[in-house]
Amino acid sequence: MQSERFTIRMAEPEDDPAIAALVIEGFIDKFRPVFGKRMDQSIRIMEKWISLEHSSGGVESFVIEGCEAGEVAASVGVRTKPSNDDIMARGLWRTLTQNLGTMRALWATTLLSYPRYSAKSSEAYIERLVVSPGFRRQGMAKGLLEAAEGLADETDKKTLGLHVSGNNLPAMRLYEDEGFGEASRQRSLLTGHFLGIKDWIYLRRNL
Ligand SMILES: CC(C)(COP(=O)(O)OP(=O)(O)OC[C@H]1O[C@@H](n2cnc3c(N)ncnc32)[C@H](O)[C@@H]1OP(=O)(O)O)[C@@H](O)C(=O)NCCC(=O)NCCS
Repeated sequence: MQSERFTIRMAEPEDDPAIAALVIEGFIDKFRPVFGKRMDQSIRIMEKWISLEHSSGGVESFVIEGCEAGEVAASVGVRTKPSNDDIMARGLWRTLTQNLGTMRALWATTLLSYPRYSAKSSEAYIERLVVSPGFRRQGMAKGLLEAAEGLADETDKKTLGLHVSGNNLPAMRLYEDEGFGEASRQRSLLTGHFLGIKDWIYLRRNL
């Protein structure tokens, strides 16, 4: 898929480390309280998480390459198939305990369980949309949302869904522009206190 200024392609397994680094960078405010003093382990954990999503989570990712070899400027994950939750949960728990120890792994699992989402077979679910700071406001996020929509069409989905935190104004603006509307919201005092995210808004768009 080609835009005037960048090319969007499906991610390959070799992209997982770069996607992981980008996701940690893009959501650093969310991950710092989760990983605490073990931030240096966060990229390894995220890389395992993303590779599990690709192998067992029913998720495919798109990437836009940056200027350097192997650099990923932007990425998004799209879930279109059922997830093998058992394999996902066991794999994630193993990597969390190996890298953080049991107590911190429990804490991370609690915070990372938000927002809660029950997959629907008629919906393509968008997750971890992120654009590297140096590449923002060039239409990359819009391009990735279009790619996600293309995949949703190919897989006969009826809706596109995603969650956004209530305090993420740039993302809210983007999704509003792209025709998403609020379907519901979850409120969490826990994530409100520890992540500064009180509301998780579920947005949806009909296809
Ligand atoms: C939100 C994010 C993905 C936007 O990426 P982007 O590539 O800069 O977005 P685009 O260039 O495609 O912008 C499309 C539209 O979104 C809106 N938008 C994007 N960033 C905005 C900002 N900082 N302030 C206000 N509106 C913004 C604008 O309407 C913009 O259109 P315009 O540039 O013509 O005004 C990016 O800021 C990011 O990675 N943030 C951190 C991770 C994150 O919050 N992801 C979303 C998770 S739900």
